Amino acid sequence: MRRAAGVLWAMLLSGPAAAARQSVIHPAGEDAALVAGLFWWLLGGAVLLWLLMNGLFLYLTRLNPVPLSRRLAEMLIIGGGVLLPTVVLAVLLGVTLQKIPMHMRPGDGLRVHVTGEEWWWRVEYWPEGADAPIVSANEIRLPAGQRTDVTLGSARVIHSFWIPALGGKLDMFPGRETRMSLLPQIPGTYRGQCAEFCGLSHALMAFEAVVMEPADFQAWLTAQAAPALPPADARAARGRAVFFAEGCGGCHAIRGTAATAGAGPDLTHLGSRTTLASATLPMTEAALAEWIADPESAKPGALMPGYGHLSGAELGDLAHYLKGLR
Ligand code: CUA
Repeated sequence: MRRAAGVLWAMLLSGPAAAARQSVIHPAGEDAALVAGLFWWLLGGAVLLWLLMNGLFLYLTRLNPVPLSRRLAEMLIIGGGVLLPTVVLAVLLGVTLQKIPMHMRPGDGLRVHVTGEEWWWRVEYWPEGADAPIVSANEIRLPAGQRTDVTLGSARVIHSFWIPALGGKLDMFPGRETRMSLLPQIPGTYRGQCAEFCGLSHALMAFEAVVMEPADFQAWLTAQAAPALPPADARAARGRAVFFAEGCGGCHAIRGTAATAGAGPDLTHLGSRTTLASATLPMTEAALAEWIADPESAKPGALMPGYGHLSGAELGDLAHYLKGLR
């Protein structure tokens, strides 16, 4: 309870700029703008109806000095109870039908396939014509001004994909592909969140959605497609030795090395991401070392085992190596 109050305070104090990162009423893309526009229309209609009905009620019960004739009372009941709501709701229905798209708008070439895992996001970029994806995790980057197809799936349980400032939300099912498309318009970093209860760490299943200028996005994607660079210094080389000695490659892939497993997040360019453990921790060496030693305390129920038996130096070297994978 105290923690919830603290979070609420932090949200209030951090102000609109931080709130806009994950806000349906601060849209940064066409699809979210459509939902926000509809929200304001419906809110306006609801407020109008509320004012009219309550104004009428107040007038008749408190302000009107003359007792009403039976005929006038009937007219007001019919007018206030039937006519007003019918007109206002009919206008809102018309606006809704006119605004919501009746079919999915196709993308401009790029497709991003996101798989809900427990509790992280597997992300695959499929540029037009590609025969293999560029694999990443826990962060989604999109080009501004271009419509991207987004296909969704899940490994085991139902999740829901939602980037409030850009669009969504759409459920992710095991064994079934759901699809949508997104047209982000304002470059920036937004926040996505799993919106369907999926287990112990559902609340900690978030991600950053980074909208980039198209040229920057292309450069970034090209860099992501490349294999990992070799360790830059002796400490990173020691860290890499720890990585393989501890069998981390049994779950993770680092392209360009012997680690090719796909059970956990792809780590090839881990250091280029802005957060760790699905936006639970910052991407720093200290947080990496802490996470590897004890994932359970940061993300209850995480499948990643703890490596608390490693010495501080080993954890530091490993974190240094992983952070260097840019
Ligand atoms: Cu995944 Cu909630």
